[in-house]
Amino acid sequence: MPVMTSRGNPLSRKLFTVGPVHVEDEVLQAMTRPMITHRSKEYKALHGSVIEKLKKILDTDKDIFLVGGSASVLLEGAVRNGVRKNVLGMTNGSFGDRWIEISKLNGKNVKEIHVPWGKAIKPEDMEGMVDSSIEAVHFVNNESSTGVLSRTDEIISEVKRQNDPLIFVDGVTSVAGTDLKLRKNEADALIFGSQKALALPPGLAFIIVSERLMKKAKDIPDRGFYTDLIKLKKNNDENYTLTTPPVSLIYALEFQLDRMIAEGMQARYRKHREMADLVRRWASKYSGMFPEEGYMSDTIGVLNRGPLDFDKFHGMLKSKGYEISNGYGDVKQRTFRIGHMGDLTPLKIKELLKVMDETMEECK
Ligand SMILES: Cc1ncc(COP(=O)(O)O)c(C=O)c1O
Repeated sequence: MPVMTSRGNPLSRKLFTVGPVHVEDEVLQAMTRPMITHRSKEYKALHGSVIEKLKKILDTDKDIFLVGGSASVLLEGAVRNGVRKNVLGMTNGSFGDRWIEISKLNGKNVKEIHVPWGKAIKPEDMEGMVDSSIEAVHFVNNESSTGVLSRTDEIISEVKRQNDPLIFVDGVTSVAGTDLKLRKNEADALIFGSQKALALPPGLAFIIVSERLMKKAKDIPDRGFYTDLIKLKKNNDENYTLTTPPVSLIYALEFQLDRMIAEGMQARYRKHREMADLVRRWASKYSGMFPEEGYMSDTIGVLNRGPLDFDKFHGMLKSKGYEISNGYGDVKQRTFRIGHMGDLTPLKIKELLKVMDETMEECK
């Protein structure tokens, strides 16, 4: 049977979505290598190689663990390993709200800071909130429901000015798309997944951990099994995973990391900013961008719908072979979203925006 590529698949559309995102054919092909078992020496070599390459592209020496699953499993893992009782959850959108819910469902006592949707989380929002009972603070770096990129470095500095809890960052839609300067970044946990700026299929979750978090985890009793960072580290130190990993995805990860190293991360970060600029310029001809000025995401454009009948517009766009994303959460009816991350390019974004211009005309 011939191998089906996205070009050969009549059902396929070009994805400009917020995740899963477009995956290059050659990356998909890398998944078709012969299967190996996850306790073999071949797997050990593969695992060691992807962890080294991840450290290289993200410029960090900290431990990185991977598990089969979506990023949420490790958002939960951070809380289970780093919080005995009290956590401060800061939110400015759906995914910040979700993390607060995760903490509550894990029996934690959550103090909450709610920032209006469309605004960034800023140091002044946290005034006097990080008291000595707070064991950890969590927030989303790039809020995918609103397209707001909060400044992790400023938030971390303010948390540390007030006290010294652990700091957990959801980098699901920023890692590998925005330079988080991890050498200087003092987050104790940074969580992300395969289906966003890494431009892989969904199914792998990652966490970068600090020694501080690992030390605290040792004293926390209910870390779970799948989410136990101590067990994950023990296996990772031997280039294994705790449970059966999605080996095919890890093949694709290795292939993709080699591509990223060849392209250079600074070039990739620049490319993301260029794509974001193109989308913002396009939006200014219509109903504008949803997030506040100065804090717009490099990876996800959230645009005001204005008078646009989005469902009609998107139906027409899809019939031409292009898919973008609906609004999300509380602003679902007021916005729509364009994913501009991973292996998309400014050229591909220009192509999309041209078709969107034509479709806007036809939609009138
Ligand atoms: C910012 C953010 N956090 C968390 C998640 C949840 O990730 P997952 O679906 O991989 O568990 C998403 C998913 O889109 C996200 O965009």
